[in-house]
Amino acid sequence: MFDAKVTKLLNEQINKEFYSAYLYLAFANHFTDAGLIGYANWYTVQAQEERDHAMLFIKYMQNNDLPVTLEALAKPEADMSSHLSVIKEGLAHEQFVTASINAIYEAAQGVKDFRTMQFLDWFIKEQAEEETNATEQIRKYELFGADAQGLFLLDKDLGMRTYAPPSLVL
Ligand code: FEO
Repeated sequence: MFDAKVTKLLNEQINKEFYSAYLYLAFANHFTDAGLIGYANWYTVQAQEERDHAMLFIKYMQNNDLPVTLEALAKPEADMSSHLSVIKEGLAHEQFVTASINAIYEAAQGVKDFRTMQFLDWFIKEQAEEETNATEQIRKYELFGADAQGLFLLDKDLGMRTYAPPSLVL
């Protein structure tokens, strides 16, 4: 028997992960419009990963016979007035998602829902990686982004990122 609060939070996380995909697509569009196709690629791959996260929450709920309710997606809201502000929004968003995952973990822990805690372990590790990546993006841009040649090389580097399915299989 699943706790009602944990179930609600799991279901809400699906929307947050799809929203993350939507937000990163907006970032990718920003960079496509600016001609920075490497950055656009990086955020497009990021969006694909977020869709995978949403699908993992759906699968986990369904594996446990919990009904999934898909809610409306909000319009992506972020300060996209400059390249750096977009990149910084990425870190702020990941910190928001980390707090959200932690809140589900805390609720699961409170009712001794060890199964959900174990499921979330992967996401806790993943969030640490996501925050590290986002911080690295800011550092790299601050170091090299102001210089045209530096930005060219940075963009080329980010264009190398390829999509890989998540290591967690349910
Ligand atoms: Fe699915 Fe980037 O958090």
